[in-house]
Amino acid sequence: LKRSSSTASTASYLSSRGFSSAPAPERKVTVLGAAGGIGQPLSLLMKLNPLVSSLSLYDIAGTPGVAADVSHINTRSEVKGYAGEDQLGQALEGSDIVIIPAGVPRKPGMTRDDLFKINAGIVKSLSEAIAKYCPNALVNMISNPVNSTVPIAAEVFKSKGVYDERRLFGVTTLDVVRAKTFYAGKAKVNVADVNVPVVGGHAGITILPLFSQASPKANLSDEEIIALTKRTQDGGTEVVEAKAGKGSATLSMAYAGAIFADACLKGLNGVPDVIECSFVQSSVTELPFFASKVRLGKNGVEEVFGLGPLTDFEQQGLEALKAELKSSIEKGVAFVHGN
Ligand code: NAD
Ligand code: LMR
Repeated sequence: LKRSSSTASTASYLSSRGFSSAPAPERKVTVLGAAGGIGQPLSLLMKLNPLVSSLSLYDIAGTPGVAADVSHINTRSEVKGYAGEDQLGQALEGSDIVIIPAGVPRKPGMTRDDLFKINAGIVKSLSEAIAKYCPNALVNMISNPVNSTVPIAAEVFKSKGVYDERRLFGVTTLDVVRAKTFYAGKAKVNVADVNVPVVGGHAGITILPLFSQASPKANLSDEEIIALTKRTQDGGTEVVEAKAGKGSATLSMAYAGAIFADACLKGLNGVPDVIECSFVQSSVTELPFFASKVRLGKNGVEEVFGLGPLTDFEQQGLEALKAELKSSIEKGVAFVHGN
């Protein structure tokens, strides 16, 4: 496998001057929740991406200001802001990619599942609008709990007859970003060269970094691997506690969301060997959704990769996460069917 070069790809688009032999195709990217803590910096980063020609910023309020601000940046995309439900259709129409960071974040002491009550309804209604206005878009789900919001979107799309499993993604890139940062620090290697697959889901023990497959290789002790695994699993909580009631990760999430959307755009544009981890419909395990490495292409997911060889510690982590991930998936499915 070629490396999924998150850091390299950001550097390449942030430093790009837009010179290339073939013009990049027109691509519309819509951010739902664009006025929020993630939405604003994510909108900024998408404005810097030369693969975007049209940037559509939607929120229930506040988007005219964000859009006016971002629109003054002298990069390729045209920016439009939409506020309130009556403008949601316009915001979505013609989208190639819809990124969803809409919903409430955690406060200290909460689990991601504690957000289900509010966010499940938000994601359900936004998914209904996507099914109606841009059923062919790639959906990048950031709203938590991702382990449930992705199944919610899938069930909504199925009920509207527009579900294509290749086009629905739970964004788990922040777990990969964290695993890379923490591994590089411990292994004392250049973080720009690091790759670490992270599989499973996006909450607590369902986040399973596979440090045995990390590159470049390093001789870390079992204790160091256990500590790195725990820090990756608790990375979100580390930020929630540090923010002390003012929300969860926004800046690192915006970075991770921009990396993942950029990978989706490259895939759509026919760039070969674009590989990222994502929580997708899967037959890698017995669970219907699972995060693992996927190849992105013109139709979204082109290939879901298996887990590769696991250490005993990783195998135990895999078995331990299944019950929680299964019940989070089932909770999302049941929500759409009114159970
Ligand atoms: P935030 O409260 O700062 O922003 C959320 C935004 O969503 C607000 O602007 C709000 O107006 C908007 N919103 C609410 N209902 C909406 C609707 N129906 N339509 C459109 N927009 C709506 O929160 P945040 O810090 O940006 O976090 C957003 C979500 O992302 C949370 O659920 C959080 O848990 C999640 N998150 C996920 C990851 C991940 O790795 N997948 C990482 C960080 C945060
Ligand atoms: C994260 O991993 O930072 C997000 O899922 C937000 C959270 O609640 O931890």
